[in-house]
Amino acid sequence: MFFSKGKQPVVTVMLKARTKESLIDEIKRAISQGAEAFGFQAEEFDREFRSYDNLKEIFSYMEGKPIYYTDYRRGNKCPELSDEALCDELMTALRAGASLIDIPGDFFCPSQGEITTNIDAVKKQKAFIDEIHKMGGEVLMSSHVLKYISKESVLTIARLHKERGADVSKIVTEANTAEELQENAIAILENLEDFQHLMMCYNAAMLTVKTKLDILNIELTQEERRLNPIEAIHCRLKEPFSIIKKLERRHLPLTIQSIGELTDIAGLRVVCSFLDDLYLLRDYLLKQDDVILVAEKDYIKQPKASGYRSLHLIIQVPVYLSTKRYELPVEVQFRTLAMDLWASNEHKLCYKQDFEDPEVAEALKNCADAIAKVDLAMQKIKDELTFQAL
Ligand code: GTP
Ligand code: MG
Repeated sequence: MFFSKGKQPVVTVMLKARTKESLIDEIKRAISQGAEAFGFQAEEFDREFRSYDNLKEIFSYMEGKPIYYTDYRRGNKCPELSDEALCDELMTALRAGASLIDIPGDFFCPSQGEITTNIDAVKKQKAFIDEIHKMGGEVLMSSHVLKYISKESVLTIARLHKERGADVSKIVTEANTAEELQENAIAILENLEDFQHLMMCYNAAMLTVKTKLDILNIELTQEERRLNPIEAIHCRLKEPFSIIKKLERRHLPLTIQSIGELTDIAGLRVVCSFLDDLYLLRDYLLKQDDVILVAEKDYIKQPKASGYRSLHLIIQVPVYLSTKRYELPVEVQFRTLAMDLWASNEHKLCYKQDFEDPEVAEALKNCADAIAKVDLAMQKIKDELTFQAL
């Protein structure tokens, strides 16, 4: 059984106890509660008990589940333990049945931040990792940096771990401010392959909808000899920062699954000249066989309290990749040039700001209402001219 090969996370129970009896009790309890793997933190477990026979007996209670074995220098009850002696202990654990062996990034050359670039030490680390692999084990390389470092520095350490042959990389940093915490979260997201894949799919969904609208625009302009209905289409994928903020607002965990529940990761803003254009485009888009309407909010018929007007659709469209097909949600906001002018300026001035000034809000609301009147007046002129042309 391996830790690094599976796609799904495994529920791993970390064990830390002084005696064999208490460990066995913990293991039995964990098994009965559905543990899928174990982490054995040996530093609390008295040295004299860490023999091959003892470990084998303890591991036998884990019912063949993957075992992560770790023994840190820090907090170790046996401070005299040298790295060479630790090597022997880790090998004993591996022979006794452990599957994932934790070795520090500064193994054979204790260094700050638990990562070394000492050539001799690195050579020894590689040889040791090779030996573990040959015996069928996996290696987790850990670096307890224990302070805030940039995402670039985290990646540098991860690359060093990988170059040395580690199967899993563990880098423990800290964040002292909300900004540092956020930067850490963004770095983790951006480097997750599943996240990159999801964003690639959302990008494809966005392009699919953009093409549909572009085609409608061309057709309506040429074949019906009318004024082009679309003035501009703006596409955007939600930034990792905004994704994290939205998950926080909704009290959702930062997981790929909850990101998949958001319906506005892919967004298009379709700016039209006249009011009737946007409803026409909406109808033509929704008539297409592969477009499913998930939700609709008409903030033109029912403007928001702020005065905001737009027609919002959440639609679902298919995305074809080389071997897979996904159905993904895309948010489409239709608005007139006039509504776009108001929304852009209002956004610049106050949308999602912490403060709210009632006077400013009222002034903006008045602008929105004035603009809505202009839209209606322009539509009326267009209708009259169209009528005369008939
Ligand atoms: P979000 O969490 O912002 O996505 O809101 P929501 O899921 O409740 O959806 P809603 O339909 O209310 O708004 C979605 C989007 O419409 C926002 O991200 C903005 O782009 C736009 N929007 C909504 N209200 C306003 C507003 O008062 N002013 C401006 N400028 N834009 C707005
Ligand atoms: Mg949104």
